[in-house]
Amino acid sequence: MLLVTEQAPLLTVDSLSKSYAGIKACDRISFDLYPGQVLGIIGESGSGKTTLLNGLAGHLPLDGGDITYRDRSGTLINLRTLPEPQRRKLMKTEWGFVQQSPRDGLRMTVTAGANIGERLLDVGARHYGNIRTEALDWLSQVEIPDRRIDDFPTTFSGGMQQRLQLARILVTRPSLVLMDEPTGGLDVSVQAKLLDLMRSLVRTLNLSVILVTHDIGVVRLLAHRLMVMQNGQVVEAGLTDQVLDDPRHPYTQQLVNATLIP
Ligand SMILES: Nc1ncnc2c1ncn2[C@@H]1O[C@H](COP(=O)(O)OP(=O)(O)OP(=O)(O)O)[C@@H](O)[C@H]1O
Ligand SMILES: [Mg+2]
Repeated sequence: MLLVTEQAPLLTVDSLSKSYAGIKACDRISFDLYPGQVLGIIGESGSGKTTLLNGLAGHLPLDGGDITYRDRSGTLINLRTLPEPQRRKLMKTEWGFVQQSPRDGLRMTVTAGANIGERLLDVGARHYGNIRTEALDWLSQVEIPDRRIDDFPTTFSGGMQQRLQLARILVTRPSLVLMDEPTGGLDVSVQAKLLDLMRSLVRTLNLSVILVTHDIGVVRLLAHRLMVMQNGQVVEAGLTDQVLDDPRHPYTQQLVNATLIP
């Protein structure tokens, strides 16, 4: 899964730090993410993975560090100093965030079609017929039957809700998608189906993804590069296959060995 990365980075994170009452949830995290690249982040519970994603998306104030994003026009944007209205707009147009719980990423009180249409309205779509056609198209891309378009997400299974979340985000053709445990809490067979779908969407849409998971199988399947976190720090990083086949840090060795035991 080698990826040619001659282009400039889409995202550059330099020394991102965040503490909570003396606990270093993220301690000087740095990395580059290139267009079309999937970066997996793995680490034990409490290692700072969600804090990192939320910090990148501007959902929480950071203590330090720089986040630079190259937008569609090629302009470098400093996300730490970007005014709130522009940040919000960017999050709705060029970024997407797949929440671990679909309840946080979907609006449960409006229909599946409206969940998708809403994001289009946010970016300026106004023609009802076009919005409905796009919504139907995206439902079919995430393998949800057309006839469910007017149903509420509360009537969907967990796997369908996660797929609807993907459709809601991808409809605006983001460049960068942050995902926090997108397959967590799903049955193994449902997980496998979702992973297959994510893998094909990442390829066809040339998405850049930062994917947080506990699951080594998920990163093996999807991630070009891997970062291993422990206690708020990156303890190991590199090409996924290299890190997993020849782990250097004791914590990564332990993680890999744990998944080898039947
Ligand atoms: N709002 C908060 N207030 C205080 N401490 C927090 C808060 N959010 C996170 N922390 C602390 O920051 C550290 C990192 O938490 P974080 O949620 O980022 O971990 P995680 O790697 O996502 O874990 P999990 O795999 O369980 O989701 C933990 O020690 C956690 O207790
Ligand atoms: Mg988390």
